[in-house]
Amino acid sequence: MKTANRISGLPKYVGGKPIDELQRELGIDKPIKLASNENPNGPSPKSLEVLSKSILDVALYPDGDSYHLKRKICDKENVLPDQIIIGNGSNEILELISHAFIEKDDEVIMGEYCFIVYPIVATLSEAKIIRSQMPNMTHDIQNIIDLVTNKTKVIFIANPNNPTGTKVPKASIYDLLDSISSNILVVVDEAYCEYLVENQRMNASKDLAKWKNLVIVKTFSKIYGLAGLRIGFAMGDNEVVDKIQKPREPFNVNSLAQSAAVAAMDDKEHLEKSFQLNNSGMLFMKTEIVKMGLKIYPSHANFILVDFGCAARNIYEELLKIGIIVRPLENYNLPNCLRITIGTQVENERFIIGLKEVLGVLR
Ligand SMILES: Cc1ncc(COP(=O)(O)O)c(C=O)c1O
Repeated sequence: MKTANRISGLPKYVGGKPIDELQRELGIDKPIKLASNENPNGPSPKSLEVLSKSILDVALYPDGDSYHLKRKICDKENVLPDQIIIGNGSNEILELISHAFIEKDDEVIMGEYCFIVYPIVATLSEAKIIRSQMPNMTHDIQNIIDLVTNKTKVIFIANPNNPTGTKVPKASIYDLLDSISSNILVVVDEAYCEYLVENQRMNASKDLAKWKNLVIVKTFSKIYGLAGLRIGFAMGDNEVVDKIQKPREPFNVNSLAQSAAVAAMDDKEHLEKSFQLNNSGMLFMKTEIVKMGLKIYPSHANFILVDFGCAARNIYEELLKIGIIVRPLENYNLPNCLRITIGTQVENERFIIGLKEVLGVLR
């Protein structure tokens, strides 16, 4: 009975509508999906090449310790293998953190407009969720510090944040770490950090040496273009990582994902191209959306939060009818907003034309 209550209280994760589903439901030819913050540039050609070879290995279990990927991450981040955990998407790691560190009635702090998986995993552990304020859709670090009590166990912060796209300077995350007890785990989720310039991102090697209670989470689902393979990782103090590893299933990350991720990290050209495509697309989208008189928030990721000033559900539905999938945000308590992923230039233009059409019809 207790379990049933816990499960029924879970916030619902509603993903972006799959392209195939829209085709099936509305018979629409060639819809575009700007709903899940994937890389419109696709995977790295180097990943594709490795995948075609690794496919022959699928009869075998994968390396349960992701040996080669961990070494690749060590080279890039200057950390040791036992400071790394690889997950079936970074979502899995967020859940493992909850299993390992959060107990019933612990307090877990997260922003009022935070990634929905944080309240899901905290609820699974029967924790008390404490929401920090987000003025102008941005984390308020001082407010987070003020909310800390002797029951606080974990603080989750995505930087840049999803679904708002806003960021806080890394110096304010350092302030947070300096201000709180080292018994509190601070999870900095950098799913979108590759869209920042390098010195704005956390420095795993230095930061983890200084704060043993810091965990940095990253993913291959965004700029690396491997969302469908489900692979992400986290770095922390080796004792912390050891605890997070405990509830992990032995072969949680498949072999195709592991080898594609290694190759993706080697493909600097693909990363640079994807970064530039996002920059130019972001500029185009911001300019065009502002021209329409709509409110946007400063975004540092690969998506943009648009505030329509009234319920946005029918705009979302009208866009679907013309084959454009974006993300409604009622479950994030932002019913007036839609989150739009930056696509290719062709997709961005189709979105802008489509949005003008829809707004014209609805007015
Ligand atoms: C902030 C944030 N963290 C984590 C994830 C999960 O990514 P994945 O499980 O695909 O690695 C996402 C996905 O959208 C995200 O936005």
